[in-house]
Amino acid sequence: MRFVFLCLSLTLFASPSWSQEDLGLAAPPEVTASGLLEHILPRFSLKTGVRVVADPAGVMVLSHGPQGAPVFARDGVGYNLNISPDDPRQQRFLDWLRSDIGKRTVESFAPASGAAFVASIPEAIADSPTQVDGDAALGARLSLIHCGRCHVVGPENRMSGLGSTPSFAVLRAMPDWSERFETFYVLNPHPSFTQIEGITAPFAPDLPSPIVPLAITPEDLEAILAFVALVSAADLGAPLQFQ
Ligand code: HEC
Repeated sequence: MRFVFLCLSLTLFASPSWSQEDLGLAAPPEVTASGLLEHILPRFSLKTGVRVVADPAGVMVLSHGPQGAPVFARDGVGYNLNISPDDPRQQRFLDWLRSDIGKRTVESFAPASGAAFVASIPEAIADSPTQVDGDAALGARLSLIHCGRCHVVGPENRMSGLGSTPSFAVLRAMPDWSERFETFYVLNPHPSFTQIEGITAPFAPDLPSPIVPLAITPEDLEAILAFVALVSAADLGAPLQFQ
């Protein structure tokens, strides 16, 4: 928590744009009702210091097209974002939505009901075998190291996972996979052997970890989530190429 506040206050001091007017975003009712905007807008603001708020009369308009730039889809319905490109803050929002991190943020949102949103996947990733880079490539390695002791993470450790443990492909296919991964350290059997720096309490002295502890940082977990978010359940069965 303290880490989050630190980042927030750094953003506040570093970004004069916080004092600027909020940017309004108008969205179709089903998008607003899904809760997606509450998930993505604060994350964008935190990263950039540009505040975007849901506003039916907003200057930026999310629509079913055909105008605007495609940003994501749900249940086969595509959504386009219409902005004024001469406003750098609006352009920044569009660029972020179409960046890897923006797409991951959209795709990591688990709606309370209905299908997840899909952000368009760049060619390099859509091509098989899957290519992952940046945080996701780090996440792939961390998953192999830390989770691959028990879970089959991908083809790289197909033979070394424990048969009784669900593979990442099986977990990724679950509709609520992101919640499960975000909270894995409180879900059994992990608490008895998992330490997340700054988040979990130390093991009780009379209950040491029965195995070599799994010790990672919150940033490691974020990279693991980026990896799992980026690959589809089917891709977890295909070889990965690191860049
Ligand atoms: C020592 C073995 C072991 C390690 C290491 C391990 N897991 Fe697990 N994990 C399990 C077992 C066993 C289950 C199945 C638990 C069950 O079905 O009740 C599981 C289940 C899960 C689930 C599904 C939980 C649920 O209740 O839905 C997730 C998500 C998960 N693991 C993520 C991870 C991640 C991420 C890592 C690495 C950072 C990891 N695990 C490391 C043994 C392990």
